[in-house]
Order: sequence, then C-alpha cells, then structure tokens
Amino acid sequence: MTVIDGKATAATIRAEVKERAAAFEEKCGKKAGLAVVLIGNDPASQIYVRNKIRACEEAGVRSFAHFLPEETPQRDALALIEALAADPSVHGILVQLPLPRHLDAMALLAAIPAEKDVDGFSAENIGKLAKNERGTVACTPLGVMELLRRYHIPVAGKRAVVVGRSNIVGRPMAMLLLNADATVTICHSKTQNLKEICREADILVAAVGKPKFITGDMVKEGAVVIDVGMNRDENGKLCGDVDYEGASAKVAYMTPVPGGVGPMTIAMLLQNTVEAAERTLS
Ligand code: GUN
Repeated sequence: MTVIDGKATAATIRAEVKERAAAFEEKCGKKAGLAVVLIGNDPASQIYVRNKIRACEEAGVRSFAHFLPEETPQRDALALIEALAADPSVHGILVQLPLPRHLDAMALLAAIPAEKDVDGFSAENIGKLAKNERGTVACTPLGVMELLRRYHIPVAGKRAVVVGRSNIVGRPMAMLLLNADATVTICHSKTQNLKEICREADILVAAVGKPKFITGDMVKEGAVVIDVGMNRDENGKLCGDVDYEGASAKVAYMTPVPGGVGPMTIAMLLQNTVEAAERTLS
C-alpha cells in the first residue's frame, strides 16, 4: 500500500506558489492579498483560520485577518465583505464556515465577487464547474484531484464513489471526478446498499464527518481511498472517516489523517489566491 503524503505534496505546492507570489509582487509592486473573515468562537474554525494566515505569511501572501464576535449582526458582516470586495489590495476573500446560526450565510457569500471567491463557493464558480469550464474550484476537492494527479493515479474510466454531498466537498468533488472522465456515484445518508456501492469503487472519497465510518469490508481490494474526514475518535485522537487499519490492509493507495487531504486544502487556497491576483494583471 502506498501512503499518499499530503503534507509533502502540499509543501511542494506551497513552494511553487511562493515563487508565483514573488513574481506577482515583482511585477506589481504589492503582494497578493487574502482576506480571512472568522465570525464567532468555533474552536475548529479558529485553528483552521490561524493555519491559513500562517501559511499566507510563509508564501509571501499578505493576509488581512478579520475576527468578529459571535453576535455580529448581518448588516455588519455584509458591510465588511462589501468593503473587502471593493479593496484593490484584497485579491481573495475567505469567509470561514460554519457561520453563527443567526447569520444568512448564502447572502454573505453572495457578496463576494466571483473573481475574489478563492473558495469557489459562488454560484458563478459552481456553475462553471458544473459545465466543465475554467473557474475557481473549492480548495479541498481541488486538493484531492491534485494528489491523484501528482501520484499518477488514473481517473478516466474509473468507478469513483464519493460518500457525502456537502457543498464544500462532496458535490464539487463529484463534479471534478466527472470532469476527469470517471464514472461517478454520490452516496449520502439516505443511500441504500452503501457497502455494496463503496465496494465497487476504484476511487473512494470519504467526506462524511463521522469517525471511522468506512470500514475495511466496505473497500475493494486495490482501491484508492481518499479520506477527507477530520474527527476525534473515542479517545480524543484525530482520525478520519475511514478505519485506517481495516482499509489499509486491502487498498493500493490511501491518504492518512492527519497529513493527507488537510494540508492540501491550505496549499490550494494559496494557489487560488495567487491565481486571483495574477488575473488582475491580465
Ligand atoms: N470550513 C471548512 N472547510 C472550509 C473551506 O474550505 N472554506 C471555508 N471558507 N470554510 C470552511
């Protein structure tokens, strides 16, 4: 079994992005800029956002951090996003999800112009992905495709099964695999015969959010297993959506948790930001 090393791959991509960021700064006299908006006290989001800001600094991307309190009213959040949308130093805007429940996330995300939508969540970018046109693609599924590409794992003609249908991972993941000519099935909480469907997968992507949900008996011998999960097990230890011990005995390739897909999300965010900055020059 080959362990897909997301940490090392992400480091390679971050070095590539750093060079592009430096070239942009040389050409333009200012850095590529990413605004990161965190509203509220979600502990996981605080860690993710801190990591994103640190990664920006290491890559020579300027970060604009905006931490707003849990009780921020919709109009204040909207006013901030509109100001960032109008700011020429900001090339990308990321609003960390989930937002506090009283906020209308759809309305806030809709205020991010498509050209600054480095998360690929806008209707315009999702529409482009659905039509297999060039646009900005959500960072986590884009990171998965990059891992498959850099490990020379063929996708065209393969049976791909995506477990999970979230807007952030499952849906865009399925569309990317389809655009790469896989035969794609999306499974979710109402799917019947989940085990049988998963066992047909040449490429199985788990994006469920439940610790060790995919067990060894659900994977095919020789499959490629991509674990997007980031959970705590019963002992508080970080674990994915896949039972690593059970699955790794059977599969050909697998991403670990941590050190698999997670680091790729940040690398692709930096790449999307530098590409957004580069587009302002053309
Ligand atoms: N929350 C979990 N993953 C993500 C992501 O990729 N982008 C944003 N904005 N929020 C998230």
